This record gives sequence, structure tokens and C-alpha cells, in this order.
Amino acid sequence: MERRIRKVKKIQGEIEVPGDKSISHRSLIFGSISEGETVIHNFLKSRDCLSTLECLKKLGAEIEMKDDVVRISGKELKEPEDILDCGNSGTTMRLLSGIIASHPFYTVLTGDASLRSRPMKRIIEPLTLMGAKVYGRKGNYPPLTIIGNKLKGINYKLPVASAQVKSCIILSTIFSEGGSIIEEEVISRDHTERMLEYFEGEIKREGKRIYVKGNQKLKGKEVFIPGDFSSASYFIGATLIVENSSLIIKNLGLNPTRTGFLDVIKRMGGEFKISEYKELNGEPSGTLEISYCGKLKGIEIEKKEIPKIIDEIPLIAVIASISDGKTVISGAEELRVKETDRIKAMTTELKKMGACIEEKEDGFVIYGVEKLKGAKVNSWNDHRVAMSLSVAGLVAEGETIIENAECVDISFPEFFNLLEKVSVNI
Ligand code: S3P
Repeated sequence: MERRIRKVKKIQGEIEVPGDKSISHRSLIFGSISEGETVIHNFLKSRDCLSTLECLKKLGAEIEMKDDVVRISGKELKEPEDILDCGNSGTTMRLLSGIIASHPFYTVLTGDASLRSRPMKRIIEPLTLMGAKVYGRKGNYPPLTIIGNKLKGINYKLPVASAQVKSCIILSTIFSEGGSIIEEEVISRDHTERMLEYFEGEIKREGKRIYVKGNQKLKGKEVFIPGDFSSASYFIGATLIVENSSLIIKNLGLNPTRTGFLDVIKRMGGEFKISEYKELNGEPSGTLEISYCGKLKGIEIEKKEIPKIIDEIPLIAVIASISDGKTVISGAEELRVKETDRIKAMTTELKKMGACIEEKEDGFVIYGVEKLKGAKVNSWNDHRVAMSLSVAGLVAEGETIIENAECVDISFPEFFNLLEKVSVNI
């Protein structure tokens, strides 16, 4: 599917974005491994989360969905009768591997062409150290075959900052003999830790270390999922680059391990206001108000900031392209192993729109230009590339055509409708 985006006069309105993707995956998983009933409100019905739901059903979970409410009755998981298809979702594959490896099951997990080219050694290694048998194509790629077992906890220092890898180890430890100590150099999103506590599990953090108890029994809960900050970031970004814009986003997830984008835009000269701050099931949320406040300026972004903005970097590249001066993003080599190589994809596509952007092994160097121009660009079948380029299209002269735009379904099926709703046309 092709999507046409035209330059807009301004962005304006009051919106809510759909439920958080990371929390939606995790609430399905925690509900399926806990005793009693779990009820999930504002569940994100996107392709990735539905992949997790289908895989869990094949693992014996009893899950019912009506509108955006999901009910799960806690049951013993069972060996799946068929292979598990994780679709495009790295979170599904890496988190579920932790559960599967710690059960006496024979399981094969696969996914689409993008997922089958993403590195899995990062979970194969710790799960193998814990005592599971995990095999990948060329030792690193899906399909994965897992022969699970009762595992032993480990002391493990994460070689890459990755919430998916951290969560895989936490989830496998819940069923293991003895606990695990996981060390992370820079803290990545901590939804798994928060949800484990909320489901009455035992976990604690001391500095860079996370201590997880083995052999845990969890209790089903009611979960209210806040709006996804990463989905909201496209609307925040659009408001900051389209003159005269102002936007209110309600019920927005504000977990501090996710909101590094707000620190970035503040340093670039953007302003925002947060109100109605609250915490529900261990996750902070609130209302964010944001207005256009003049041209932003280029900044330097370093490695230690990357985990908190990992999914927003393609969008930051767009914003930097029309800001004053130079922006340097480094230490972001993980972007090369996302749904696509996001460094290459954003450099190639933004150049077509007249941006002055240079590809680096671990990021970008971007010199702001006065104007972007509409062009035919491609999403590389990556939802975040498609949405970032759409934001660029809102300020580009003329028309921007996004090819393969249907991939927004992965995390945000309503994206284009909501964008139309807040766009005031010229
Ligand atoms: C996610 C973790 C991040 C992020 C992805 C979702 C999660 O991936 O990019 O969109 O839900 O744990 P990494 O763990 O590979 O950094």
C-alpha cells in the first residue's frame, strides 16, 4: 500500500494514542504464567502483539479478547503441537524463548524474512548457560529450536543494552532453580521488572544489578495499559516541526526508561508540559501538552542515552534534518539490527527528500536544511521508518509518497487515521 502525505498548515487537537506495545506483550505473557485471572484493558491490537497472543494460545494459554479487553485464565502451559510464528516481532521471539526454554518442551520458533535475519545469539548464549538447548540457523538466526528443561539461574552481564534480552533472562529465571543476577551497563526499558513486581513476584534492582528469584509463583491481575510513548512521539515530533501547532496527548505512558525523547527535544529547544501524573499497575502515565516553539537546534546524542530513545531515533533524524545546525548521533549501532537497518534506511530515504544526512557505522551526522521536498520514499517494511517519513512529509514541499506503508500495522494500525484527524490542511 502506498500512502500520500501533503504538507499541512498545522497540527492541532487532543488525542490518545493506542496502548503501549511493550506492556501489551508483557501483560499477555504474565497473564499466561500466573495463577487466576488476568484482565487487560486498552490492549494494543497491533500485528506484533497479536503474534504474541497466537503463540501463547499454541502454548496452551486460555485467552479471550473482546474489543480492547483481554481475559486470561491461568493454566499450565503445554508443549505446542506446531511451530510458533512470531511474525515480525523480536519481542515475541526473545521473550517467549525465555518461557519456553524453562519448560520441558520441544519448540520451533520462526518469523517473517525480517525477523529471520535478526540476531538471536544474544538469547541463545544466556539460555544455554542456564542449561537449555537452543539452536539457531548459522548459530544465530531463526528459526530457533528450543529443547527446554528445568534451568539454573545465572550471573550475567548483558553484552548489549537490550530490554528483550534482559526480559528473556528474567522470564526464564521465574521457572528456574536458584535466582539470577543480571547486570546492565545502561538501564533499558524496565516494563518486565515493574510487571513482575505487580504480579507479586520478587525482583529488585541495586545500581546496575537486577536480582531475580527462581521458582516463583505469580498471581493474575487487572492491568490498565497507558498510551504508547513511542507511538505518541510521531505526534510530538510533528507538533514541534510544523509551525503554529499545538497538541494534547492524554493517558500517555511516561515510564522514565522510555521518555528519553523528551530530554532530547528539550535540549533541541522544544518545550512541553506534563500534568495529571499518576501510576497504575506500576507504570507512570499522564497528560502531555506540547506546542510549536520555533526552529529547533542540532545537538549531540551519545551512546549512554541510546536505550531510552532507541525506537525514536529514526524520528530524531527527521527532526534534526530541518533543525538549525549539526546533529550527531553515535553509539546507535543496534539500529542496524532492528526490523530493518534503520541507519541505512533513514539515510537513503531522507536524502531523497533533500536532507543533508551522512551514514555512520553507529549513527548519523545530520546538517539541518531550510526545507525538505516531497518525494517517493520507501518504508523498507519497517513501521518506525514509515511513520518517521510520514512526519517528514508533513513539512516537505509538495507531496510525499510512502511505499509499503501498511507496515504501520505492526505497532500502530490507527496511525494514518489519527494523523489525518490532527492535521489542519493548507
Ligand atoms: C523492546 C525492546 C527494544 C525495542 C523494541 C521493544 C521490548 O528492543 O527496540 O521495540 O519490548 O522489550 P531491544 O531489546 O532489542 O533494544
